[in-house]
Amino acid sequence: MKVERKCKIVSKERLNHDAVYMVLEAGDMVRTSCKGPGQFVHIKCGDSLLLRRPISVCSCQEDEPEDLVAIAFEVRGEGTQWLADRAVGGTLDVMGLLGNGFSIKPEGRYLLVGGGIGIPPMRGCAQYTEGRSTAILGGRSADKIILRDLFERECAKVLIATDDGSLGHHGFVDALVRQELEQDRAYDAVLACGPKPMLRNVAKVAAEFSVPCQVSMEERMGCGVGACLVCACDMKDGSRKHVCKDGPVFDSREVDWDA
Ligand SMILES: Cc1cc2nc3c(=O)[nH]c(=O)nc-3n(C[C@H](O)[C@H](O)[C@H](O)COP(=O)(O)OP(=O)(O)OC[C@H]3O[C@@H](n4cnc5c(N)ncnc54)[C@H](O)[C@@H]3O)c2cc1C
Ligand code: FES
Repeated sequence: MKVERKCKIVSKERLNHDAVYMVLEAGDMVRTSCKGPGQFVHIKCGDSLLLRRPISVCSCQEDEPEDLVAIAFEVRGEGTQWLADRAVGGTLDVMGLLGNGFSIKPEGRYLLVGGGIGIPPMRGCAQYTEGRSTAILGGRSADKIILRDLFERECAKVLIATDDGSLGHHGFVDALVRQELEQDRAYDAVLACGPKPMLRNVAKVAAEFSVPCQVSMEERMGCGVGACLVCACDMKDGSRKHVCKDGPVFDSREVDWDA
């Protein structure tokens, strides 16, 4: 069930020059609409802006008196700048939890791949699998590798790739996915979130090693509830799916990567 709530900002922390980590008090949102890691919230950003902005749930928990939802986001434009400027104690108009999330089992072991602003939702997967999963985190440079300390605490292993070589492997995350699967392909699945070219390459490597792969798509969104088609994603079978309603997570074999 989708719910819309006024959520109080209970903490806010700068992760780097552009990224912010925020914890929200979310009423009974987790109790009523949590399906698992990989869902998102749709936040009204500013009075003059018509559209909400989709932000992944980084972690969430049922709590008393109110459930807690943590998000991590990068300032990209007007909406996320407005969000970053909100003060602790203020309230946000939040719809959630939306979307399907990753299909994972708590006793499973997964290869979690997050690129840039695709890193936050992978944290929920790390927590859910309680230290068994491996994380591969990528970004343009060392400062873009957010939440690294949390992944190091909550994963069996963490590998890093940066485009400029300032931290970890010099290059893209798919090279590390290949390296890891060459050594160990006994993962239940590869789970990935990031820009489409990254997802396409990660899906290709997973397919080569015959490891199932789920991808969380970062399409632009309008309504967030399946009513406007802004978020349409082309599927291999010729159909178009709504990232907001049918996703954001899809089996990588369903997606038409050439569209
Ligand atoms: C399901 C989902 C989950 C997301 N989770 C997160 C998250 O956890 N953390 C986070 O930082 N961001 C996340 N995003 C991206 C975030 O929604 C956009 O960065 C935000 O909407 C930009 O709004 P703006 O008003 O600040 O910028 P705008 O002025 O609207 O755009 C500024 C720039 O950001 C680009 N942009 C806009 N939307 C997206 C998008 N969906 N993906 C990639 N680039 C975009 C634009 O092309 C433009 O270059 C998610 C997006 C989706 C669809
Ligand atoms: S954002 Fe409107 S249909 Fe998905």
